[in-house]
Amino acid sequence: MPKINFLCVHKKNLRSKRLAPVLIKELIRRVHLQNIWQAVYTSLDVLPTPVTTCQYWGRMLNPKKLIDVGFSCLRDRMTMNRTVKLYKLPNAPVTPGFREMEPRDVPAVTELLRNYLCQFGVADDFDGNDVEHWLLPRKDVVHSYLVVSPETHDVTDFCSFYSTPFTILGTPNTTVECAYSYYNVVTKTSLPQLMKDALIVSKQKGFDIFYALDVMHNESFLKELIFDPGDDAHLYYYLYNYRLRCAMKPSELGLVLW
Ligand SMILES: CC(C)(COP(=O)(O)OP(=O)(O)OC[C@H]1O[C@@H](n2cnc3c(N)ncnc32)[C@H](O)[C@@H]1OP(=O)(O)O)[C@@H](O)C(=O)NCCC(=O)NCCS
Repeated sequence: MPKINFLCVHKKNLRSKRLAPVLIKELIRRVHLQNIWQAVYTSLDVLPTPVTTCQYWGRMLNPKKLIDVGFSCLRDRMTMNRTVKLYKLPNAPVTPGFREMEPRDVPAVTELLRNYLCQFGVADDFDGNDVEHWLLPRKDVVHSYLVVSPETHDVTDFCSFYSTPFTILGTPNTTVECAYSYYNVVTKTSLPQLMKDALIVSKQKGFDIFYALDVMHNESFLKELIFDPGDDAHLYYYLYNYRLRCAMKPSELGLVLW
């Protein structure tokens, strides 16, 4: 089924004119022409009827900048110095064999992902072409890393994140660089340790904040790595023309939409 992503109506003069339903109707028409009758999509709004409701958690990488530009606030009874110290990360990844994904890794990453994702109620069904397109590192778009066992030279773990910069209104030339957790699979390293390395490399690359949804096994690292649940930061997942008997938990979802 198609994943509907990046639905967007230009914010200047075109919003609230019911153009979104026109776009959606045209998408549905084109999908039906291919004899496909289901789809998956997300929204920050509540529509009838979510299959699951996920929450974004954010982990500050550059707290001073985030607080200075008003993107985040100081926690109660915290000073800037204590906050900077709390969120400080090592300078380099700690897992032996941790490195950036390369084209030669596509088959191993595809196998890792397929073995991992088959346990979820609704999940991506990646093949090698999908992995190459969506997960091979692409500057300013997607960042993927893996762990190669120093003993066996097998790829044992994989993590990835994509990037979206935010412009801060009212403060010219200020962007907040946001990384979003994408697909992460572990077979040897613990997920919190792997994600700590993902935080370290994202900080090195100049990201200011790292977001993760509470999908798949992400709950196992959110608190330990001091992610904060956003107020009102929900993402609702929907299936088109497919009814589930009951709503799923976010942890039963093996799918991340941008
Ligand atoms: C989402 C967006 C395209 C909606 O357009 P809009 O101009 O605000 O709204 P419109 O007047 O065109 O349409 C409103 C209708 O579309 C529906 N709608 C809005 N977002 C929707 C979505 N993601 N999926 C399905 N329907 C959606 C609304 O429920 C409403 O229908 P209703 O009155 O029957 O409830 C627009 O707000 C936008 O570009 N936002 C920024 C990008 C974004 O957040 N995209 C969502 C993907 S996560």
